[in-house]
Amino acid sequence: METDDINSITVLGAGNMGHGIAEVAALAGYDVRMRDINQEFVQSGYDDIEWSLNKLAEKDQISQEDADAALDRVTPLVDIEESVSDTDVIIEAVPEKMEIKEDVYAEVSEHAPDQAIFATNTSSLSITDLSEFTDHPEQFCGMHFFNPPVRMQLVEVISGEHTDEATLDVIEELAEEFGKTPVRVHRDSPGFIVNRILVPLMNEACWLVHEGEATIEEVDSTTKYGMGLPMGSFELGDQVGNDVSYHVLEYMHDVLGDAYEPCPLLAEKVENEELGKKTGKGFYDYE
Ligand code: CAA
Repeated sequence: METDDINSITVLGAGNMGHGIAEVAALAGYDVRMRDINQEFVQSGYDDIEWSLNKLAEKDQISQEDADAALDRVTPLVDIEESVSDTDVIIEAVPEKMEIKEDVYAEVSEHAPDQAIFATNTSSLSITDLSEFTDHPEQFCGMHFFNPPVRMQLVEVISGEHTDEATLDVIEELAEEFGKTPVRVHRDSPGFIVNRILVPLMNEACWLVHEGEATIEEVDSTTKYGMGLPMGSFELGDQVGNDVSYHVLEYMHDVLGDAYEPCPLLAEKVENEELGKKTGKGFYDYE
């Protein structure tokens, strides 16, 4: 398959990342089917896309006409068969649990065309292990976007052990069609490149506060004004979702060892469902 043959893209999951990826694909001119498990989730993702497109138009980053046209290209769906039949590319952005992904992949395999390319937006899980839940592991790879997808330039394109070169070429070109900068990740290791660096940084910031060495505000000031990152570590944690960082760390801890032990402060945020911007409260309040 070539990128010219791609007419329809399916995004599985309408959460933070799923709706953002669907928005990026629609802005690039593709017809997008965005699927989630119930009407409420899919509608919420659709509303988030509408909000974001209108915001971009308000700031003259795109025209209102382009914003409306992009929104028109997104079809929100709940039925899996309708979502993946006749599609060319499937990008999965469902929660970071192997068993959830396994179940979704089984349903997809039942209904998706044989030639469809299947990519996962997983933040850290093994591409090789995930590919083995599909019927065509050679047509499967990682396509990892960053939050918020519409604003972040990078896409990691990750090869699993079974992925063939043609699949990586198509996904890399597709990322370029989306106006992004793809970087190939040849080794399928936990957290790939960005999260292997970024998530331990956020975890270390939590340890500093947990051990009483600094406050959240002090850490965030140093991250922003000393290290030159656009956000403080805790602001970034709230943006990414504390549950997402926690799951990445748990996985890195299991596979890579003790250096990646999640800080109890982060675990506590997850237990209390203070997940960040998406729940209105994380390390900071957003209501
Ligand atoms: N769509 C449209 N507008 C958006 C938006 C979106 N999705 N998200 C935020 N905005 C808007 C805000 O509402 C705000 O609007 P107002 O000015 O009207 O209030 C505006 O953008 C904020 O823009 P700013 O000018 O203040 O900030 P900025 O444009 O300079 O940068 C940013 C915003 C791009 C998010 C920047 O802060 C940034 O790069 N932050 C770091 C993000 C990052 O590192 N992400 C990667 C996380 S790791 C990850 O995602 C991987 C993983 O697997 C865990």
